[in-house]
Amino acid sequence: MTARLQDRYALVTGSTDGIGVAVAQALAAEGAHVIVSGRNTDRGKETVRAIEEAGGRATFVAADLGRGAAAIRELADAANEVAGGALDILVNNAALLIDPAPTAEVGEDLIDQALRVNVKAAFLLTGLIAPAMAARGKGVIINMGSINGLFGSAHSALYSATKATIHSLTKSWAAEYGPAGVRVNTVAPGPTLTEKISGIQDRLAPMIAAMPSRRASTPAEVGAAVVFLAGDDASNIHGATLSVDGGRAAV
Ligand SMILES: NC(=O)c1ccc[n+]([C@@H]2O[C@H](COP(=O)([O-])OP(=O)(O)OC[C@H]3O[C@@H](n4cnc5c(N)ncnc54)[C@H](OP(=O)(O)O)[C@@H]3O)[C@@H](O)[C@H]2O)c1
Repeated sequence: MTARLQDRYALVTGSTDGIGVAVAQALAAEGAHVIVSGRNTDRGKETVRAIEEAGGRATFVAADLGRGAAAIRELADAANEVAGGALDILVNNAALLIDPAPTAEVGEDLIDQALRVNVKAAFLLTGLIAPAMAARGKGVIINMGSINGLFGSAHSALYSATKATIHSLTKSWAAEYGPAGVRVNTVAPGPTLTEKISGIQDRLAPMIAAMPSRRASTPAEVGAAVVFLAGDDASNIHGATLSVDGGRAAV
């Protein structure tokens, strides 16, 4: 274990599964105390157990980000309590992955749910946490975007719109909070081999074939990008998008 993030407190939303678990583990491996969050308590506790077993520090706080402002405030309050009022790192990672569908077949409930979890939750949580970081003159916010937020693809309009909004929020928040010492950046993964994504690799084959690397990312590779942006090596990086997509967005 190295110590690039020693004594820092990090809240990672959606760290009960997939990429968020790898992000939480990577931050903890650098010495951060990670507040693991999501709806599923069993998986959350398992993430904490794995971090502790590796010698790291973590605390689980259950939260349903689809339940609106009160639930999001509860998460922010609980995370601040763990961090003694001084959260250093916020990773807005939780999102609803949405099966491809023609726009005309996407129902209003799914649109509302996707906007609530993928956009509104990150917006409200950042509004609760960034001002305290700004008041302390330091902090890092990392938003999990996607290559889907960078270009259009048929039958992915809703998911892509939520991710493009995340990319836009990063730039707005870099402008708003950067002068007070808070760095805000995006990590934009391409297809990443979580358990869920591993089950639909066939569907992703055309996208993977168009990637210069000709392979999907691993969750650990996304975690490494988050660690870089969270740490002092990225000390003058504001409003950037770090793609972890085997070069897909570039070509
Ligand atoms: N995997 C990819 O190929 C890929 C590619 C590009 C971008 N991304 C982005 O990477 C991030 C993570 O994706 P993933 O593939 O790891 O997804 P995932 O495996 O489905 O995990 C999603 C995480 O979000 C949490 N979550 C979902 N709805 C929630 C809610 N209402 N309240 C609280 N937490 C909620 C889940 O926890 P609970 O179930 O415990 O609530 C889980 O921990 C997302 O922002 C996604 O857009 C993924």
